[in-house]
Amino acid sequence: MPIRSENYSLVSKIYPHLMRKISYEYWADYLFLISKNFIKRDAFVLELAAGNCTLAKFYNKKYKNIIATDLSFSMLNSSADKSIKKVLCNMISLPFKNSFNLIFSCFDSVNYLLIKKDVNKLFANINNLLSDKGIFTFDVSLENNSRIHIKEPIREGKYKGITYKHTTSYDPKKRIHKNSFEIKLKDKTFTEVHRQKIYPFIDYFKLLQKNELFVLHCYDAFTFKDATENSNRVQFVVKKMR
Ligand SMILES: C[S@@+](CC[C@H](N)C(=O)[O-])C[C@H]1O[C@@H](n2cnc3c(N)ncnc32)[C@H](O)[C@@H]1O
Repeated sequence: MPIRSENYSLVSKIYPHLMRKISYEYWADYLFLISKNFIKRDAFVLELAAGNCTLAKFYNKKYKNIIATDLSFSMLNSSADKSIKKVLCNMISLPFKNSFNLIFSCFDSVNYLLIKKDVNKLFANINNLLSDKGIFTFDVSLENNSRIHIKEPIREGKYKGITYKHTTSYDPKKRIHKNSFEIKLKDKTFTEVHRQKIYPFIDYFKLLQKNELFVLHCYDAFTFKDATENSNRVQFVVKKMR
């Protein structure tokens, strides 16, 4: 019987392997292009759900004041870059008093908020922490992306002596995308079950507006074309209303 482990406590060990086809450098360049007209080199930058800080590493080279945050100690701690300031916290309850010129979150991390009330809390936190001229940019995964991913429902691999089986599924009624990991470490098998909510596209606009945030752009991710509800992943660029 596999032992249930906390989300990302073990996936953090295979995360670089799971992401091996992702070019974080390209991703960072895309975000730099989105944010460059809004922030200066001395900007205060906050990354939410930074994981193992791969993107933060690129930001840390460009901007002096970056803080990387995440809910998972294992993810933050697996970052080899000790020069990045890291804070373990939940994106719906951010423990900061100063404001930030840029706040960002990547790779469907906001989809980990399973109830609308929590997305609302996140946006309320953003309204409190974003400077008047600052921007908040985040991506979210939409239903199309889930439909694509479930075409290959089982993936297996081995990384640094750890073998894993990754199963992915989507429940369109509940709008829950589930990623289950079975991880073999020495003679024990562990499981992690990650659930993400795939909200309708329009819901983000409603919740942002409710928190006095307006959408400056919403791009089809990795492009500068307007997103639609049929996009796979969308990139919001948000400012405060006043
Ligand atoms: C798919 S990973 C993305 C990590 C990183 N942004 C990247 O691009 O590699 C999702 C991350 O979201 C974090 N996370 C999930 N729920 C969170 C929450 N409520 N607050 C902060 N981080 C959260 C997880 O711990 C995990 O590191």
